[in-house]
Amino acid sequence: MPPQTQTRRRPRRGRLIVFEGIDGTGKTTQAKFLERDLRRAGHPCIRSHEPGGTKRGAVLRDLLLHPPRGRWRTKSETFLFLADRHEHVQSVILPALERGQHVVLDRFTHSTLAFQGYGGDLTLRERGELSLILKFATDGLVPDLVILLDMPARDALARVRRRGDARTDFEKRGAPRNEKIRRGFLSIARGQKKGQGRGQNRGQNSRQSGSGEKTRFVVLDADQDEKVIRARVWEAVAPLL
Ligand code: TYD
Repeated sequence: MPPQTQTRRRPRRGRLIVFEGIDGTGKTTQAKFLERDLRRAGHPCIRSHEPGGTKRGAVLRDLLLHPPRGRWRTKSETFLFLADRHEHVQSVILPALERGQHVVLDRFTHSTLAFQGYGGDLTLRERGELSLILKFATDGLVPDLVILLDMPARDALARVRRRGDARTDFEKRGAPRNEKIRRGFLSIARGQKKGQGRGQNRGQNSRQSGSGEKTRFVVLDADQDEKVIRARVWEAVAPLL
């Protein structure tokens, strides 16, 4: 008889689901809803955010949002975001995925492409270089799904101001810069479009990330009832589970 092999089944790797968008689009609210909906459906998950998803990252977040002596140069700022991300990937995200938990994230790599790449006026060539160092920072980890919550920057900023939050350096930069970042997010999504989504979905597609792996991208209109958005998010997430 062959020796008995111990077959301890590894849990199925969890899914990485990321909410993206400019400030004020309701990412945090929707990430909380999704965490609740996943749990309710019996799927173990964690929710986290960037920047500042680890204890070390909290120090970096403070340096980023409240720069000590004027604003960071775009590339210096980028490296701080990437240091924060690498810590987060290695100490929080990957271990959870490997335990079989789904990870719901408030921002990830596409924020850096949109905010620093487009908002920070990097050239096309520099944006290509940025994609490479994003892969370096994440050890090649790409999301299973990115949900981009989209709305005009002026309206999103008005929401941020209404909640009395416009204190950080990022939020003080105003509507024109945020509109540029919004267009960056949309162009990342649009460039990869494979077809129209259904209902309120403005588009749903797979994209080749800088690393050559595929990420599904769903763009949702953020300027509608949060319950409607919640339902659309669930429609996009459910097939992955
Ligand atoms: P966030 O935590 O989403 O803001 P808040 O909790 O105040 O709503 O992010 C802080 C800021 O950092 C936000 O304006 C977006 C910016 N950011 C970048 O510029 N690049 C990045 O890679 C990330 C993750 C965030």
